[in-house]
Amino acid sequence: MSKLSTKYLGLELKSPVIAGSSGQTSSLEKIKEAENCGAGAIVLKSLFEEQIEHLIASSGGPHSYPEAEDYMAYYIKANAVEDYLNLISAAKKSISIPIIPSINCISAGSWIDYAKMFENAGADALEINIFFLPVKGETTGSEIEKSYLQIIEKLKSKVKVPIAVKIGFRFTNILNIIELLYKRGVEGVVMFNRFYEPDIDIDKMAVVPAEVFSLPAERRYVLRWIAMADALDFKIDISASTGIHSGDDAIKYLLAGADTIQVCSALYKKGIGFIKEVNERIISWMEKRGFNSINQFRGKLNYSAVGNPILYERAQFMKFFSSHD
Ligand SMILES: Cc1cc2nc3c(=O)[nH]c(=O)nc-3n(C[C@H](O)[C@H](O)[C@H](O)COP(=O)(O)O)c2cc1C
Repeated sequence: MSKLSTKYLGLELKSPVIAGSSGQTSSLEKIKEAENCGAGAIVLKSLFEEQIEHLIASSGGPHSYPEAEDYMAYYIKANAVEDYLNLISAAKKSISIPIIPSINCISAGSWIDYAKMFENAGADALEINIFFLPVKGETTGSEIEKSYLQIIEKLKSKVKVPIAVKIGFRFTNILNIIELLYKRGVEGVVMFNRFYEPDIDIDKMAVVPAEVFSLPAERRYVLRWIAMADALDFKIDISASTGIHSGDDAIKYLLAGADTIQVCSALYKKGIGFIKEVNERIISWMEKRGFNSINQFRGKLNYSAVGNPILYERAQFMKFFSSHD
C-alpha cells in the first residue's frame, strides 16, 4: 500500500488526486494517461440530462427503434449515450483505477432510469452534477433544494453504486444541503462545481463567456466550506474541486478535510503530468513532516480541529479594515 492510499466513496484509491470531469477525461487515451500519471480515480466528462432525455423522447424508450423522421436526431443523441457506455466499459477493461461517470442534471426526469446502465457498464460510483439556475424571482430557495433532493431520492432507489453529488457554493446554508443529501444516503459531495459564467466585452458591447479556467485564488472560498463540512457530526466523503494549481493547494485541501482532490483547469494548462507533480509534492511534504499516510494529517485543520475556529467563522473584514484604514 502506498503512502498516498486513501478511501473515497468506499473505494480504495492509490492517490487522493482525481482527474476531474472535463474534456480531459473524455477519451480512453486521456484516461490511460491520467492513470499512468498516478491518478487515484477518473471522473468522466459529464453526460447531460438533455442528451439522455432526447434519446428517450425520440425513441419512445430505451429499447424501441425510432421513427424514421426522428432518425438523425436519434442517431446523434443515441450515440452520445452509447458512446458513453462504451467508454465506461472500455475504461474498465483497460485501467485498474475506479471510473466514475458523471451526469449533469436539473430534474428528477426519466433520465434516471438510464443511470442503471452506467452501473451495469461497470461504473464504480456516480457523480451527479446538479444545478438549477433560477430565472424567476418567485422561485424560492427551498423549492430549488427540494428538487435537488427529489433527484437523489429517485436515483438512490435505482442504483446501488455510491453517489457523490457535485454542488455549487451558492446555497444559503451549504452545510444544511450537505446534511440533507447525507440523510438520503449520498456517500460524497464534490465541493464545488465551477460554473460557466457570462462576462461583458465593453469594446464589442456584447455578452461573452468569462474565463473558463480557474485561478489559484479561487481556492479560498472552497477551503472554508470543506473545513466546516469535514467537522460535521456525520461522515460524508468530500472531494475538493476548484483552484488546485499546485501540490501545495492539494495539501491545503487535505488538511482542511478533503478525502480527495479533483484537478481540471491545471490539466488543461500544464498537461496530464500535473497529476504526477501533485502526487510527488504531497509525498515530499509528508516525508518532511514524518507522515506515513494521508489519514495521519487529513482534516487536521478542519473547523473543529483547528485551535482558533474563529478564523473559519469570520466572514466580514471588520478587523482588517480597522487596522488598515
Ligand atoms: C473545459 C471544462 C469542462 C468541464 N466540463 C465539466 C463537465 O462536463 N462536468 C462537470 O461536472 N464539470 C465540468 N467542469 C468543471 C470541472 O470539473 C471543475 O469542477 C472546475 O473546473 C473547477 O476545478 P478547477 O479549478 O481544477 O478547474 C469543466 C471545467 C472545464 C474548465
